[in-house]
Amino acid sequence: MIHTICYFSTAHPSLQQEELESLFIYSKENNQKKEVSGILVHADGNFMQVLEGDKKTINELYQKIAKDTRHSNIIKVPIVSYEHRIFEDYDYGFTIIDDRLNIEKLNKYLNWLSHYPSNEINRFVKLLQQFIKNT
Ligand SMILES: Cc1cc2nc3c(=O)[nH]c(=O)nc-3n(C[C@H](O)[C@H](O)[C@H](O)COP(=O)(O)O)c2cc1C
Repeated sequence: MIHTICYFSTAHPSLQQEELESLFIYSKENNQKKEVSGILVHADGNFMQVLEGDKKTINELYQKIAKDTRHSNIIKVPIVSYEHRIFEDYDYGFTIIDDRLNIEKLNKYLNWLSHYPSNEINRFVKLLQQFIKNT
């Protein structure tokens, strides 16, 4: 069973573009090593992240992320874990999404995913669509 965590948060207002870029590079590399797939969306001063992988790995990573002072107001979304990763095939594993083009690409992928025959996944996809609709 794949473990999935999703949360929304507010980026620290003084975070500079270079700091964001190094956070993105670090996260992508680290997640690749730990076989963590998912997405990290940064838009309008907010983050939305989905992490998928082994339960222990995901929980430990989330503990670290939750303590990170580069963001606050973290709202964890209660979701069930699915049998499959839903972002494994999306842009090769773990993807950073922080511009319009990538948001549109994600939107297309979510539209495609919304036909997935699972109510839980459909509900989850709607929630993600809602977040990016407001960006
Ligand atoms: C919004 C946000 C998302 C993050 N996402 C990840 C992530 O996906 N993977 C990761 O390794 N670190 C991520 N981090 C960084 C972690 O909080 C932490 O700094 C990092 O894992 C370094 O921990 P370590 O030095 O103990 O390895 C994120 C931080 C923030 C603020």
